[in-house]
Amino acid sequence: MKNVTVRLGQNSYNINIGSGILSRTGSKIKELGLKDKAVIITNPVVNKLYGNIVRQSLIDAGYKIAVLEVPDGEEYKSLESAGKLYRQLAEFGAERSTVILALGGGVIGDLAGFTAATYMRGVPLVQLPTTLLAQCDSSIGGKTAVNHGQLKNEIGAFYQPKMTIADISTLKSLPKEEFTGGLAEVIKHAVIKDANFFEYLEKNLDLLKALDNNVLEAVVAKSAQIKVEVVESDEKDTGLRNILNFGHTVGHAVESVSNFQVSHGQAVSIGMTAAANIAVELDLMDPENVTRLKKLLGKAGLPTKLPRMEIKQVLQTMRYDKKVQSGKIRFILPRSIGEVFITDDVSLQLMEKVLGEMT
Ligand SMILES: NC(=O)c1ccc[n+]([C@@H]2O[C@H](COP(=O)([O-])OP(=O)(O)OC[C@H]3O[C@@H](n4cnc5c(N)ncnc54)[C@H](O)[C@@H]3O)[C@@H](O)[C@H]2O)c1
Repeated sequence: MKNVTVRLGQNSYNINIGSGILSRTGSKIKELGLKDKAVIITNPVVNKLYGNIVRQSLIDAGYKIAVLEVPDGEEYKSLESAGKLYRQLAEFGAERSTVILALGGGVIGDLAGFTAATYMRGVPLVQLPTTLLAQCDSSIGGKTAVNHGQLKNEIGAFYQPKMTIADISTLKSLPKEEFTGGLAEVIKHAVIKDANFFEYLEKNLDLLKALDNNVLEAVVAKSAQIKVEVVESDEKDTGLRNILNFGHTVGHAVESVSNFQVSHGQAVSIGMTAAANIAVELDLMDPENVTRLKKLLGKAGLPTKLPRMEIKQVLQTMRYDKKVQSGKIRFILPRSIGEVFITDDVSLQLMEKVLGEMT
């Protein structure tokens, strides 16, 4: 088992990463001094697979428990779902000391996290992420949110968990496309901060895709560590944390223009390729790095070309993205593998040229 410590003063906590560790949830949260009642928030898919393991471990540790299911899907990451959860929590008799355990992927993590942050002005939260994206990315950093109308992830709170237990054995039941999508964020973490980790991925991608336990544990731990370091330096997302948006400027636009036919992970992969190509065009990076990036993404099963779509529409969508600052499109560009910087100095002509060459 590996352990990553998140150092945020009074909000510090540990991320436990290992195989089969969900069965230790009860004893682990007991060690934190969390008392009496525990509520698992999950969805029917994850509940069927892992609900009993967590339930049993909580009962064995002496907790009075409730399991609250939210239907599977991004559309249930909503204020309506949170409202229903508040009622169910009250019916169960949840108090200020009752711990909420978020068992599932990023959707459950965000929704249960938001519910924990707001029910009775905040109750203890434990993240039990079960997707690669959630283990390496979304469960870390304390961003909790729901969607509301056009406002995606805009209603929320920064709220750190008391502990995270990332059981890598849960990734074995994950649909392949979900695993591949998570790989995009793993590769992103390597490019923004760690050339050695990128090299490790180049060497071990086959074992990683075959879900080898040792490689999986090492990759989740390293990827989580990178996100932790970025979050520690900018907990409330005021500057440096922006580097986590590498690949997202073009990525969000591609996702949106494709009407979400291109998945988030695929779109980020295309976006990272575009950003790397821009860096080369600006003479800021050796083209050899783009070749390595494209090769790794391709081997992971991720796209590096733009699907059939209107480039003008992609550019237009980028201009309306919430991350645009005072009319300028902000890019995270690599200088090399392992180092990126933030700029809003990329001309529309260059963006158009790069995207045109990616079709
Ligand atoms: N808070 C943040 O910082 C942050 C960062 C990135 C993304 N997000 C959010 O994360 C969400 C996406 O998360 P996701 O990619 O994990 O999607 P998800 O939560 O929808 O999970 C993907 C699918 O896999 C299923 N599933 C989960 N674990 C499983 C398992 N072990 N075995 C089999 N099936 C399993 C789920 O039921 C779902 O159908 C989005 O809502 C996004 O906005 C948040």
